[in-house]
Amino acid sequence: MIALRAVTLDDCERVWEWNFAPDVRAVSNDPTVVELDRHTQWFVTRVPAGAFWIIEVAGFACGSVRIDGGRISIALARSARGKGIGKRAIAAACAAWARPVTAQVREDNQPSRAAFEACGFVVNQNASEHADRVVTYQWRP
Ligand SMILES: CC(C)(COP(=O)(O)OP(=O)(O)OC[C@H]1O[C@@H](n2cnc3c(N)ncnc32)[C@H](O)[C@@H]1OP(=O)(O)O)[C@@H](O)C(=O)NCCC(=O)NCCS
Repeated sequence: MIALRAVTLDDCERVWEWNFAPDVRAVSNDPTVVELDRHTQWFVTRVPAGAFWIIEVAGFACGSVRIDGGRISIALARSARGKGIGKRAIAAACAAWARPVTAQVREDNQPSRAAFEACGFVVNQNASEHADRVVTYQWRP
């Protein structure tokens, strides 16, 4: 069982650690590493906007998921991956959002592609933003 809870300011550093882990940047559309100070400036403005959750399993925080302008992003701690947590968290976030969601995934990010596909995301062939080696997925409630 997983639970999503709204992110709080106390989560700033753990979210940074998950999102900017080298193996996460390596599979991200944007490999830029942001320093903690800059992340914090962004985080304090982003928290009140909502649609930003901590993923918990048995009360332990193990990743975050966010929907921003209808686009979803997710990162789990390495130890939490490959156990079905990602797909459950994506499904829960989409259900909470209850509006169309897009995901942009690197073509070679197989776990991420499989997780989104398992949640009913389909490839959007007509995506307006095209980047090399990136697949755009669409989900509708
Ligand atoms: C992408 C991510 C969220 C997926 O969550 P997860 O909990 O690891 O994935 P799940 O265990 O829910 O598995 C989802 C699907 O991926 C498959 N999968 C999991 N790990 C895999 C791997 N290493 N290689 C291939 N497939 C994999 C599972 O079999 C499952 O497919 P199925 O439903 O057809 O059986 C997580 O791995 C992660 O945070 N990765 C690093 C950051 C990242 O890539 N974020 C997404 C950027 S778009």
